[in-house]
Amino acid sequence: MSAPRREADWSPAAGRRALLRALAAGAAGALPLAWIGPAAAQEYPTPFGPSAADAVARMVKLAAPRAGELVVDLGSGRGDILIAFARAHPGIRAWGVDINADLVRQATQAAQEAGVAERVQFFHRNAFDADLREADVINMWLFANLTRLLRAKILAEARPGARVLINGQLIGTEGILGNWRPDVIDREGTYPIMMWVVPARVDGYWSWELAVNGTKLVYDAILYQQFQNVEGTARVGNRRESFIDTRLRGDELTLGFDLTVPDLGRTRHVYTGRVRGDAIQGTVRLSTGDGRKVEVPWLARRTPSSDWFRPTGVELK
Ligand SMILES: C[S@@+](CC[C@H](N)C(=O)[O-])C[C@H]1O[C@@H](n2cnc3c(N)ncnc32)[C@H](O)[C@@H]1O
Repeated sequence: MSAPRREADWSPAAGRRALLRALAAGAAGALPLAWIGPAAAQEYPTPFGPSAADAVARMVKLAAPRAGELVVDLGSGRGDILIAFARAHPGIRAWGVDINADLVRQATQAAQEAGVAERVQFFHRNAFDADLREADVINMWLFANLTRLLRAKILAEARPGARVLINGQLIGTEGILGNWRPDVIDREGTYPIMMWVVPARVDGYWSWELAVNGTKLVYDAILYQQFQNVEGTARVGNRRESFIDTRLRGDELTLGFDLTVPDLGRTRHVYTGRVRGDAIQGTVRLSTGDGRKVEVPWLARRTPSSDWFRPTGVELK
């Protein structure tokens, strides 16, 4: 039976204590010892325990996979999560890996019994050796320390826009992926479910030109990024300004700033675009102080150095 939500202690320490209590109960016979699995070649082996059914249903809803997408479970246990995804979304494919060969066999059999084995496969593999490049949804429910180690692999391999789901059951929500904070926390059920969206890499120098009213404007920008959080500054002519509104969700970037530009005066800039490696493509809406509005295409390119730093001079206008 689940503890009432208001009394629950979601701290990682409480999570570890609760899981160890469950394991101790297992050793006493309430859970089969085989569930604990072999000690893995890693600092923080995580034993098996199935995600609660309501948590699984909410994960499927939160990830909202589209037809053709690939759902992955790192530490797939009995396979409950991927089987639920495949039942709810006939157009998706899924695979899971688990360090425990017996659980891989159980999950494979469960997928066959559920009639989804053509689309859902399970492999006996360490999560650190799984290939995440094609994954659209990555699920894991492991000890927080192990999850945090997998963060490096996810950020290096998974494509921008991939969703990462973690069940907060026993492990809570605090610092699960360190300073990479969840984009969404669903607290509607017994346990919180967290979702992250893998951010595109935008840190660095960018440059672009805009053609406005027959005038060519050259922008040089610097973006600073920590996970999905972006700050920055742009320059046009001899004016520089910090961004006031930025948002990065997967490969979708929004940048906003007010900057004085030749012929237009103080102008609000709102850029929206998609990051494609070393390019960002989209549009910018310009709104001038006297009410003029213009929308023009935006194509930014990453540059190895930046004209943002070139001398300003003393003739300020
Ligand atoms: C808490 S269970 C979660 C099972 C399933 N994902 C769910 O939520 O119902 C954790 C699972 O991860 C597996 N596991 C632990 N470390 C692993 C690793 N390094 N690579 C792959 N699987 C691992 C365990 O054997 C166990 O089945």
